[in-house]
Amino acid sequence: TVLHQRQRRASKRSERAEAVLRDLLDRCAAPVELLRQIADAMAADMRAGLAAEGGSDLQMLVTYVDSLPSGGEKGMFYALDLGGTNFRVLRIQLGGREQRIIRQESKGISIPQHLMSSSSHELFNFIAAALAKFVASEGEDCHLPEGIQRELGFTFSFPVKQTSLASGTLIKWTKSFAIDEMVGKDVVAELNMAIKLQGLDMKVTALVNDTVGTLAAGRYLDHDTIAAVILGTGSNAAYIEHAHAIPKWHAPLPKSGDMVINMEWGNFKSSHFPLTQFDQELDAESLNPGEQIYEKLISGMYMGEIVRRILLKMAQEAAIFGDNIPPKLERPYILRFTLHTRTIDMLMMHHDTSSDLRTVASKLKEILGIKCTSLRTRKLIVDVCEAIATRGARLAAAGIYSIIQKHSQHSVIPDTKRSVIAVDGGVYKYYTFFGQCMESTLSDMLGPELASCVVIKPVNDGSGVGAALLAASYSRFHQADE
Ligand code: GLC
Repeated sequence: TVLHQRQRRASKRSERAEAVLRDLLDRCAAPVELLRQIADAMAADMRAGLAAEGGSDLQMLVTYVDSLPSGGEKGMFYALDLGGTNFRVLRIQLGGREQRIIRQESKGISIPQHLMSSSSHELFNFIAAALAKFVASEGEDCHLPEGIQRELGFTFSFPVKQTSLASGTLIKWTKSFAIDEMVGKDVVAELNMAIKLQGLDMKVTALVNDTVGTLAAGRYLDHDTIAAVILGTGSNAAYIEHAHAIPKWHAPLPKSGDMVINMEWGNFKSSHFPLTQFDQELDAESLNPGEQIYEKLISGMYMGEIVRRILLKMAQEAAIFGDNIPPKLERPYILRFTLHTRTIDMLMMHHDTSSDLRTVASKLKEILGIKCTSLRTRKLIVDVCEAIATRGARLAAAGIYSIIQKHSQHSVIPDTKRSVIAVDGGVYKYYTFFGQCMESTLSDMLGPELASCVVIKPVNDGSGVGAALLAASYSRFHQADE
């Protein structure tokens, strides 16, 4: 009977936890009608952001990229990609239209946590030192002809107010960065200074957001690319806009008639969002309360943290991990999203296909120190991951939908042209469930006819490669195949 009692207690707990799950599923539901309302709200915010500086949650930043790589670019170029939890330096040798990318080398370096909130000098010196080391290790075949300076595309994946292609001031930090003194400063000037200190003969030719880099890389591979989306530590999108549809742009219209816009869609919010108490608490306790609400629903840095908060509630209210709350479960952001080491804890638990959910068990032990769980509890955890990933993926689809709609308004033959959306970022790349759910939701929203014209295309390492490509196409020593 002691055994019976124990079993009854355990089953009561599971029932209570399952009730929390049911409530969660209700609140996270994002049916297509709701997604349409969200997409409409985003489209309205896009227009407001294009109309006036500060006109909307969406900053719709002018990037000064008015033409994208043609494929004819030639020469050796560098890129430095800073934005998530790690950064990369990259060198690329371009051989023109025939040979394209002849050679490409890169090195990823993880950023020590303390540098993300240190001083701008420390951060930029660290970056420039890594760049100098990368250059120092290169062979003679990489040496540029006498009198030609090395050129660098700088991918800086934060909101920046650009004043030209190679200058711009930081508007605010997002994700886990918080170096206050940097806000308002020209990030290119800081980097150029740090590069000089290293004694390196190199200069930033293009300052780009990771979405813009990915768009450039996407376009290099496929001419029908119209937009790029990053689903990684953070989330954002960039797309090609008609310059005349940007009322806040007062300078002469570019020759191409186009301008790439960095939407900074992470900061979008809508009263239609299916928010839960967990989202509200996460936001209130974040580095940037009230900001980046869309990003907090759909990106890698935050989805695991939402899951942690739900599991904590289940532990508190339904004792799913026993009578005591596992202390590590109370630690914010313990469910990590670290691309450098490919540690995406939530994804690994969610993707566990073993019948006894072995990976879930081992992750719980490894990360949270939870030794013993029932299969029913482990299933519950998978369901929680699925609820949060599904909501995120569906909301991300709504964002893509509104870009396609905005874009097709200007097209001559809107419904028949092929439109490619380049996508990159760890969540998209590794979290298969997320990507598939996003794509099928987008198809549902578009309907079969339109859906057949839209291609979602993974572009690996687009942000770095794209920055190097843009450095090439805007190079002062520009030489290209026509
Ligand atoms: C954050 C940044 C944005 C970047 C995105 C993806 O939202 O603000 O600039 O593109 O993360 O890295």
